[in-house]
Amino acid sequence: MQTKKATASASSNIAFIKYWGKKDEEKIIPMNTSVSMTLRDSVSTTTTVTFSSQFPKDTLVLNGKKEVGKKLEKVSQFLDVIRKKFAVHEHAAVESQNSFPTGCGMASSASGFAALAMASVEALGIAIGKKELSALARRGSGSACRSVYTGFVTWSGSFAEQIYEKSHWPELRDVIVVIDAEEKKMSSRDAMKRTVETSGAYKKRLTVVDDRVEVVKQAIGQKDFPLLAKTIMEDSDEFHACLKDTKPSVTYLTEKSYKIIDAVRRMNTDQVIVGYTFDAGPNAHLITLEEHVESVAQNIKECIGGVSIIIG
Ligand code: DP6
Repeated sequence: MQTKKATASASSNIAFIKYWGKKDEEKIIPMNTSVSMTLRDSVSTTTTVTFSSQFPKDTLVLNGKKEVGKKLEKVSQFLDVIRKKFAVHEHAAVESQNSFPTGCGMASSASGFAALAMASVEALGIAIGKKELSALARRGSGSACRSVYTGFVTWSGSFAEQIYEKSHWPELRDVIVVIDAEEKKMSSRDAMKRTVETSGAYKKRLTVVDDRVEVVKQAIGQKDFPLLAKTIMEDSDEFHACLKDTKPSVTYLTEKSYKIIDAVRRMNTDQVIVGYTFDAGPNAHLITLEEHVESVAQNIKECIGGVSIIIG
């Protein structure tokens, strides 16, 4: 029996300019350009894939728990893409472990599908370049195509590209405030489809987002923290306004999320030291510089009870 096995890790990423909406639902081609920063090992996924002709079907063990429902289905569909593309016939056993606590409400599809794409091609002995790997990860989850790179990344079409190495601005950190341990009620996949179909605010967003992408790239390039913070907060606010404008509306932010926004405004009174951004969930990503990480985390803990903090 010939088994093909490999292990790979990938970190999650936080979008400074959000990807939201698809031009092609099946291939996952985005409506707009996004820009992200890949996070550290504290928010990563390590995945082992074994392909074998002895396996009657695909299996998935996620954080030590055997999955059978939707999660396995998504993984299996992704493996189908790989099997078709590289003429592979074997099923696979996938074992995946997140570095962050299970059920802490943190999204893991970006790091999850990036690690799965990497481990799969390695297990199969397929040599592909970074762009092709990114394009492959994209078929699992859009945001995953950015997680095959470290540092600062942009994604517009079929693959993502690194714009700056992590070493360009290593002081930039993400203080992740985990508010909700629940799985989100509405998946980003379903929500973004509904936004594209029903929101006028979203149509307007598409006309301004490219300019904002340029501003964020410039802010990163020049390490202009106040400009970066202002622009990512603007994009996050606009993104959540589009969700509100979606019919029926989609709400991811909670009372605690708004409390964090207030706390950020207070912390920035004299000098801009932190910027917030929220993905499709209530957890806050507070972008700040290394020197402010401790005080930002402390401030949040004092203002809001019952939250945990992960430094990414
Ligand atoms: C709000 O990548 O999870 O985090 O492509 O349907 O799998 P699918 O969606 P997904 O959406 C991420 C949306 C976001 C913004 C972002 O990461 O750019």
